[in-house]
Amino acid sequence: MIRAVTTTPYLDQKPGTSGLRKKVRVFQQPNYAENFIQSVFDVIEHERAGATLVIGGDGRFLNREVIQVAIRMAAAAGFARVVVGQGGILSTPAASNLIRKRGALGGLILSASHNPGGPTEDFGIKYNVSNGGPAPENITDAIYARTKVIDTWYAADTPDIDLDTLGEVQVAGMTVEVVDPVADYAELMETLFDFDAIRASKLTMAFDAMSAVTGPYATEILERRLGFAPGTVRNGTPLPDFGGHHPDPNLVHARALYDTMMGEGAPDFGAASDGDGDRNLIIGRGRFVTPSDSLAMLAANAHLAPGYAGGLKGIARSMPTSAAADRVAAELGIPAYETPTGWKFFGNLLDAGMATICGEESAGTGSDHVREKDGLWAVLLWLNILAATGKSVDELAREHWARFGRNYYARHDYEGVDSSAADTLMRDLRGKLATLPGTMIGALTIAQADDFAYTDPTDSSTSANQGVRILFEGGSRVVFRLSGTGTSGATLRVYLERYEPATGDLDANTGKMLADIVAAADELAGIRLHTGRSEPDVVT
Ligand code: G6P
Ligand code: ZN
Repeated sequence: MIRAVTTTPYLDQKPGTSGLRKKVRVFQQPNYAENFIQSVFDVIEHERAGATLVIGGDGRFLNREVIQVAIRMAAAAGFARVVVGQGGILSTPAASNLIRKRGALGGLILSASHNPGGPTEDFGIKYNVSNGGPAPENITDAIYARTKVIDTWYAADTPDIDLDTLGEVQVAGMTVEVVDPVADYAELMETLFDFDAIRASKLTMAFDAMSAVTGPYATEILERRLGFAPGTVRNGTPLPDFGGHHPDPNLVHARALYDTMMGEGAPDFGAASDGDGDRNLIIGRGRFVTPSDSLAMLAANAHLAPGYAGGLKGIARSMPTSAAADRVAAELGIPAYETPTGWKFFGNLLDAGMATICGEESAGTGSDHVREKDGLWAVLLWLNILAATGKSVDELAREHWARFGRNYYARHDYEGVDSSAADTLMRDLRGKLATLPGTMIGALTIAQADDFAYTDPTDSSTSANQGVRILFEGGSRVVFRLSGTGTSGATLRVYLERYEPATGDLDANTGKMLADIVAAADELAGIRLHTGRSEPDVVT
């Protein structure tokens, strides 16, 4: 029996940088999740009959409830099969892999990524398409348009299924297959990396799963398959509220790992991942590696791992990510692409075979093995490189900078800023861009100033207003952007970068090296003036 439920639209269901993210209490309103899921299904109305849908999430509060709803709605929508992770668990990269491996039409990933979880925190729903990647903008726009007019949602009138028992069950004529969330993913990793070499290296490591989804993946792969000591994985059990922690693997929220790696007796390698397992933090003994540098260093050494032994086709990075990877691409003689923020922009380049490795300053790195960024993948590629070279993270970093120069980099976040003040700041900045080239701020000369716009080389689609770039002579720059993933107020992100050539000062303090660019950023954008803040809330 299919139930048709009359509903009225919610007008705030516009997907952001990565799906629909709201406070849990917003999702708990009557019909809220159902309206959004039905809008997704309505947009794919002509393809869904007989198709497979993957469903899973990062285990946060509401995960199981919304999965049960989505299963009943998928049955009503005519899907032939739903593949769901046991316990409702699938990391975002594992979901991407399953969509591809099963030839699914798409997937629903339930997560608010690195945002906190729990009854008073965040939840999210994201639709991924058949290549395994986040739905492109034409689809998310169509979903949003649908949410504004939706009047009915449909669900099979069936009880909850048992999400904890592996195997198949029927829901109103649709097959639901509960799968091991880790097995296919771990198998894929074994095809890309030299597990024997990593095991033989006897490296030591600490991995902080931040009580989020990567716990079971890291325990299986690092401790069971690669033989790292029990206890290597910390906070390895996914909890609905992530143990009250903020599962964002940066120097603020993964401070405990940072302290371990900088302290006496640190292991060789430290890493962490976020709520849904797509982000990574890399810290060698005594050496933090910025995400932008990690992308460049992984790209320069990827050929040491079996999955990339044939070389890279190209490297892509989001615009606010430092240009360190561009220098590697130039030396390898392969193209470098600069895309707007958001992993979805890499999908076309990967599908077209134009790029192999992609990365973002927001702690995302990945490759063409799936269509999402992949935290554990980055960890394993680092481990493979360490095992193959016998060098430490610190040595690899120093050698890299001595060869390519160093892009000193930091991001300053001003969180919970009044939205209209943030909009005014950006508008004022955009208004004066044309006058800036050629002017000087302190000792810095502005070479170029623009609002980043992107034309996708594969389908010529365009995305405008993707962030203000002020480029200085000599390769330094500052970028201003408003976050697209927050759930309250506005977050202003200021991305600071200074290029120091290989002959320059390669081991200086990042804050010191960026001080004049920080001052220039405030002078250009009037950050204090508009936000009333004199310091950023988070520096990463
Ligand atoms: C999500 C996306 C990333 C993107 C990030 C930007 O995590 O998956 O691809 O880099 O959002 O977040 P922001 O808050 O800066 O819009
Ligand atoms: Zn994430």
